Amino acid sequence: MKYLILGKNGQLGQAFEKVLKDKEVLGFDKEDCDISDFDRLKEVFEAYRPDIVLNCSAYNFVDKAETDFPNAYKTNAYGVKNLVYLSKKYNAYFITYSTDYVFDGKKEGLYEEEDTPNPLNEYGKSKLTGEIWALEEGLEKCLIFRTSWVYGDGAQNFVYKLLNWAKNNDTLKIAVDEFSVPTPTSFLVEKTLKAINKNISGLYHLVPNGYASRYEWAKLILKTYGIRKTIIPVSKDIFNLPAKRPGFSALDSTKIQEELNETFKEWDEEFEKINDEK
Ligand SMILES: NC(=O)c1ccc[n+]([C@@H]2O[C@H](COP(=O)([O-])OP(=O)(O)OC[C@H]3O[C@@H](n4cnc5c(N)ncnc54)[C@H](OP(=O)(O)O)[C@@H]3O)[C@@H](O)[C@H]2O)c1
Repeated sequence: MKYLILGKNGQLGQAFEKVLKDKEVLGFDKEDCDISDFDRLKEVFEAYRPDIVLNCSAYNFVDKAETDFPNAYKTNAYGVKNLVYLSKKYNAYFITYSTDYVFDGKKEGLYEEEDTPNPLNEYGKSKLTGEIWALEEGLEKCLIFRTSWVYGDGAQNFVYKLLNWAKNNDTLKIAVDEFSVPTPTSFLVEKTLKAINKNISGLYHLVPNGYASRYEWAKLILKTYGIRKTIIPVSKDIFNLPAKRPGFSALDSTKIQEELNETFKEWDEEFEKINDEK
């Protein structure tokens, strides 16, 4: 079984490479293979002929995407379209990831796969376009996982950013009115590989159970790392960020749990488990 990883230096790409180290894996980052470059991708598919294509690449700069949206679409929409087209042509199983930011946060309850998306920002719109184009290709073996608040190795996550802020500040202002589900890369890798083994296709939500506010998550991170700082609960609006974000975008992953025949752990158990293993 040959695996192709795109975006190998990102949080999720690194986690896949770690777990698949004994398998036949070819990984690329943007410099070596930009997924918006169709000709380069075709060259890679033609030479390697992967069985499984793991798209871990993404334009993830939510605020920057408001003005830099052509680049967000290049990767999150056109790049995905290239990959799904080539996966179909070369008969590969295609896996990609999307986001809870396809929703507007107006639902009272967890978001299910059947809920109507309505992204509030350009990043969310670019990811939703990628989802739609991936499904439109009609590839039989195509898996799209929506996930949220991803953390793993690297700097592009809330755990890293909070620990960094805590080094330089005695008080930290954290939003109490922003809710979602913290999701470790190790969880995404484990469940994705299980889903591949079961030949699952379609659009699914993939997060641990439960949900948290940024404030609750920040408190758990500092407690776990034994850091004593004052966290002040504030509204997300005081940060005046360029991109609008949903207040409550927690995903319900019941559907994939049923397919995998397992019950996921709660988000805080996942976080504590990872830190116990370190
Ligand atoms: N991080 C989150 O909180 C979050 C939340 C919801 C959903 N997700 C989704 O989960 C998936 C994994 O996210 P992650 O946190 O692992 O992302 P990440 O750490 O930001 O990694 C993304 C990787 O993709 C690379 N990349 C960007 N544009 C590319 C292109 N055109 N061609 C090839 N590679 C490109 C980046 O390289 P450069 O660094 O060189 O640009 C980076 O190495 C993504 O689909 C993401 O949208 C993430």
